Amino acid sequence: MIKVAPSVLSADFGNLANEVKSICDFGCDFVHVDVMDGHFVPNLTIGPLVVDAINKASTKPLDIHLMVENNTFFVDLFKNLNPEFISFHIEEEKHPHRLIQYIRSLGIRPAITLNPHTHPSSIEYILEDVDMVLVMSVNPGFGGQKFIESSIKKIKEIKELCQKRNPKCLIEIDGGVNDKNIKELKEAGVDIVVAGSYVFGSENREKAIKSLQI
Ligand code: DX5
Ligand code: ZN
Repeated sequence: MIKVAPSVLSADFGNLANEVKSICDFGCDFVHVDVMDGHFVPNLTIGPLVVDAINKASTKPLDIHLMVENNTFFVDLFKNLNPEFISFHIEEEKHPHRLIQYIRSLGIRPAITLNPHTHPSSIEYILEDVDMVLVMSVNPGFGGQKFIESSIKKIKEIKELCQKRNPKCLIEIDGGVNDKNIKELKEAGVDIVVAGSYVFGSENREKAIKSLQI
């Protein structure tokens, strides 16, 4: 069954603790936390104080998605929160292999993220070292964007690479996910979906989460 990681980027930040508690009570599998630095992406989100507050409110493991220039600095900011995953962008890291080893040495599961333009071959030689590949199906920076269709083909290609190099590697998709494209995503090989505006924008969030757990 697909696991769901609602992105708190679409939550009501004036009521953040309750928003996080509610999606956990409604049965989400992870809480997806988007950290943006205003440099790698044209948006700025949250730092350690707020992520710590999210972690305290959450009964589910955190899935931290870094969209930043200085990855190691940010890993060090969040390492004491014991997240399940920390993912960083391949486009923004000179030494991805070294950073993956570092994240794993902290007892955190390393994940690598690809922007929409990035070819799956760019991660082929580090696939054995990660626990998850995060495929961006929108340009990183904002919630509520339209799903980029070519992401389906990319997931299939990554799935094939994983079968050759690391069959246990999970595939996560982030951006524009909803009940309309979930079936196609499952067929393509996705294990975890991130959903922000779809879950938080739904009148019935429990139903929205369940509609993705297919
Ligand atoms: C975008 C973020 C996403 C975003 C997803 O940079 O990484 O996690 O919040 O939002 P939706 O599901 O609304 O596309
Ligand atoms: Zn994200």
